[in-house]
This record gives sequence, structure tokens and C-alpha cells, in this order.
Amino acid sequence: MSMSDFSRRLIRWHKQHGRHDLPWQNTTDAYRVWLSEIMLQQTQVATVLPYYARFLERFPTLKDLATAPVGEVMALWSGLGYYARARNLHACARVVVSEYGGQFPTDAEALRALPGIGRSTANSIATFCFAARAPILDGNVKRVFTRCFGIEGFPGNAAVEKQLWTLAEELMPAKQADIYNQAQMDLGATLCTRSKPRCADCPLGEICVARATNRQVELPHRKTRGELPQREVTLLILRRKNRVLLERRPPVGIWGGLLSLPELPEQASAEVFVAQRLACQIDGVLSAPTAIHTFTHFRLHITPLICNVTAHPRAMESGLEWHDLGDLEHIALPAPIKKLLTALG
Ligand code: ADE
Repeated sequence: MSMSDFSRRLIRWHKQHGRHDLPWQNTTDAYRVWLSEIMLQQTQVATVLPYYARFLERFPTLKDLATAPVGEVMALWSGLGYYARARNLHACARVVVSEYGGQFPTDAEALRALPGIGRSTANSIATFCFAARAPILDGNVKRVFTRCFGIEGFPGNAAVEKQLWTLAEELMPAKQADIYNQAQMDLGATLCTRSKPRCADCPLGEICVARATNRQVELPHRKTRGELPQREVTLLILRRKNRVLLERRPPVGIWGGLLSLPELPEQASAEVFVAQRLACQIDGVLSAPTAIHTFTHFRLHITPLICNVTAHPRAMESGLEWHDLGDLEHIALPAPIKKLLTALG
């Protein structure tokens, strides 16, 4: 799939199936858009609608909100939840009046510096009101991304979130950023829902990794409580003089496509595997200390087994390569593997 395929599918879908008549749409009034975006954080459209109407009736302009007592703002917010949003809303209105003369700044960076406005909210206001080209990444978009691209790990995890922002930047189309952003929100809210996603109607159905692998329920991954899941792997360090046998990993999965150490299949005997599958003769197996490597979504316990090779075929099977231990800096190896081998000396 090309990057533009993703945005093209969404924009085309939105024309026919997106939401076009919400009260905060069809306007570039930053006050109205900002108010809606704050209310819509972690809250569904249907819940927000009556609050939004009451708010605008009581505070038709930003100045009305800024000059109101905070207690009144809190009272109108009552029932929407996450009350820090209301406190920040009021504080933000005051800052915009005192520092910007009552007009919201137009660039995303300045918006983001205001109380209660994070990167995603700043970017949506900038695209909806000021024709910016800036991606969003709210809960809905995270769900669409993790499913469509098969991204592992809890999206609230800082490392995973960083990866998702990079993806969001890359996927951003050159034009129609506002429609594209709205389309993502609408898709996440109406089709790509947490439970029972309507994949048959989805414009991303043909390119979605979760759908192809039947992992819509699993993705996005939930927060792991405390401990990450643990996995164990036994890796073989086959040495012959100052050389070590490396194997290229399959293109998908951890360390996809990199050279690494041959992995001993679960339950297999090292002696039998080395003799039959790697066609090497060894004079014994020695276990080395376990190493632990933490990925975003699991913790890998590596048990290395050191085998001293006494004879091997001149031409090894494809994917297997002998390398000098002194040359390892020049090879793309996974960090924990490099560390293991360097410790070997
Ligand atoms: N959720 C967050 N922003 C939204 C918007 N502009 N329209 C619909 N749902 C949203």
C-alpha cells in the first residue's frame, strides 16, 4: 500500500459516509471548534451535543466565557466528566483574551502552549480553522492506525505513541488535511469501533492488517497491568575459532530481516538441531547467562547456548552466514544480540 492510498480511501469515504452536519462543523470560528474539541476528548458526540448547545447559549463568545466565574463554568460542565477540562477551558479563555486580544493564535505550536490543548487538539483546531496541514492522534485515530497497520503495544505507552505520531506525520496528505482529519475521527467513531467494528463497510478493509489476520479484537493492545508479558527464546552461539554463525530473521516479526543468532525451536534438543538442521558437528553445549531485552509489548528472556563447532559444511544453507567476531560493528544486528556476542570477546 502506498501512503497516499490510506488518505485517498478515507477522503473518498468521507464524502459519502462521513458526518457533515455536526454543530461545530461548517465553521472556521476557532472558539466554536476549540470548545467542541475539548468537550469531545474521551466523550462521544451524542453526549456532547446538549452540553455544547447550552454552553454556547450561555457563553456566545470567548470573552463571555473568560469573564464568567469559574464556578459557573464548572456547573455547566457538570455531568460531562474529566473536570480538569473545564478548569483548563476557563483558564485558556482567559489567556487568549489577555495575551492574544481574544483571537486564538493560528499556528499549532502556539495553540499547543495554551492550557488544556495538547498536540492532537492543537492540530485539529489548526486544520479546521486555519488551513494547516497537521495530523491528529486521538483515541479513535490510534485505534484505526494500530488495526490498519498491525501496530503492537499499548498505544498509551510513550514509545508506541511516538511511533504512532511518526506514522501520523507520514500519512498526512498534501491537501485536504481538514477532511482527512475529520474522516479519521468519523471512521473511528462509526465503523472502526472498539467492539464489533464494521469491517465489511470500511474503506480500509482491503488494506487492514487486523482484518487480514483476524486481530480486530486484540488490537489495539490493552494496557498491561504492571508486568509486561514474558517470552523465552533459546539462541545458539555456534563458534568456530574466531567466527560465529548468524542467521537472517524472517522479514516479519521481531528483528524482521536482520541477521541474528539461530533460534532453537521450542522443545528441540540443541545437539539434534545443530547436527540435523545446521549440519554442524560440535563437541558440547554450554549455557551462558540469560539476557533480558524489553520490547514495547513484551519482555524477552534470552537463553544463549554456546556450541563449539568442530566441523561444518563449506557451503551453509541459505540464510546462514559465518562472520568474524571482530567484524560485528559493521553488521546490522539487534542490540541485545550484539551485546551478547561482544561479551563473548
Ligand atoms: N471527536 C473529536 N473531534 C471531533 C470532531 N470534530 N467531530 C466528531 N468527533 C470528534
